[in-house]
Amino acid sequence: MTRHDCLARDASDPLAPLRHRFALERSDEQGVIYLDGNSLGVPPAVTADRVRQVVEDEWGVGLIRSWNSAGWIRLSQRIGDKIARLVGAGPGELIVADSTSVNLFKILSAAIAIAKADSPERRHIVSERSNFPSDLYIADTLARAHGLALTLVDEDEVSGHIDDGLAILLLTHVNYRTGRMHRMAEVTRAAHAAGALMIWDLAHSAGAMPVRLDGGGAIEAAADFAVGCGYKYLNGGPGAPAFAWAHPRHTARMDREAWRQPLSGWLGHAAPFEFTADYKPGMGMTRFICGTPPILSLAALECGVETVLAAEDHGGLAAIRHKSIALTELFIELVESRCAGHGLALASPRDADERGSHVAFAHPTDGYAVMQALIARGVIGDFRAPDILRFGFTPLYTRFVDVWDAADRLHGALASGEWRESRFSVRAAVT
Ligand SMILES: Cc1ncc(COP(=O)(O)O)c(C=O)c1O
Repeated sequence: MTRHDCLARDASDPLAPLRHRFALERSDEQGVIYLDGNSLGVPPAVTADRVRQVVEDEWGVGLIRSWNSAGWIRLSQRIGDKIARLVGAGPGELIVADSTSVNLFKILSAAIAIAKADSPERRHIVSERSNFPSDLYIADTLARAHGLALTLVDEDEVSGHIDDGLAILLLTHVNYRTGRMHRMAEVTRAAHAAGALMIWDLAHSAGAMPVRLDGGGAIEAAADFAVGCGYKYLNGGPGAPAFAWAHPRHTARMDREAWRQPLSGWLGHAAPFEFTADYKPGMGMTRFICGTPPILSLAALECGVETVLAAEDHGGLAAIRHKSIALTELFIELVESRCAGHGLALASPRDADERGSHVAFAHPTDGYAVMQALIARGVIGDFRAPDILRFGFTPLYTRFVDVWDAADRLHGALASGEWRESRFSVRAAVT
């Protein structure tokens, strides 16, 4: 594989025409190669104008009337319906609100309520020790509050804990650190066969690959609940609102039982503008809304989601996944061949079927410094303690030639030994 071969692959890439939808000109001019879209997506080209339009026209001229006339009051649902198309969910099943952590608090509360009602003898919420810490903190808080046990296991021990003591299995589809991906349908089926509920965190999968929360039509493979993130592969911008999903059988039951989620705010009320003193939950996913949604952030998120939906005319999520695998395979191959002898060890699964859209390499002693030296050479990835250099590949804008150049610069940063300079070891607040 030569750089020329990579340029040829870009020339025949069916997703290549979508790259112009992103505001990458200034990064390109500066020679920046961005491999961190798994953490914060690149701004879509239209986002700045759209947010300006919301500020100047909808807010500036429409003023408070825009809650009705510009459809602000339904924006959470409107964007939710668009994200639903990316994760195998139906219209009205997915709501955009709050952060992933807050949504998990609400969603896990719902799952606990169902588990306690249906199978009170089940005492365990099981998750992975390596799951994103926020998920574990939220689960620990709720487990304590409800007298349940949060059991944390290693990745390869999950199946051994799917038993008749399991109330809820809480997993992140693609591990934030290693990129290891669960077989969603298989794990969901196993949880259901054991009589447990299945919650998926889609932070590192929504927009990066096909996801079927509905189990592709197979009821036993359909998940129970899910949460996900708006600022990674959905390109919604820093701190973009997140999403929450519940299977319609659960929302139908919540409706029947008038179940209220613990953050029972006024916009999740059945009739917020009646301003009644007592709380009556809204129907379906509406109950999972708490307070006033951030309209500027939602406007930006909608632009981001549209960039992924635009791929529908170019092969859709299947094409995104196909290219993602090709990009990650190429990166692994180039780093292993060009950077051999510099201490990097692949920390992601080698089998593409078990890997999401980012690649992790461990460095035994100085991963942070190596990443800083690489960033100084214009390749932006990130570091996850204690030893992981993380590289994200977003098929909508990452080119094969970027992969080649990134591996080349990584080799340069390692071979020159410049990462040993003390300035590269100074830890910033965000790594
Ligand atoms: C897998 C996973 N879950 C949850 C979160 C937390 O998201 P938020 O900051 O929106 O609460 C993250 C953040 O990166 C994540 O990677």
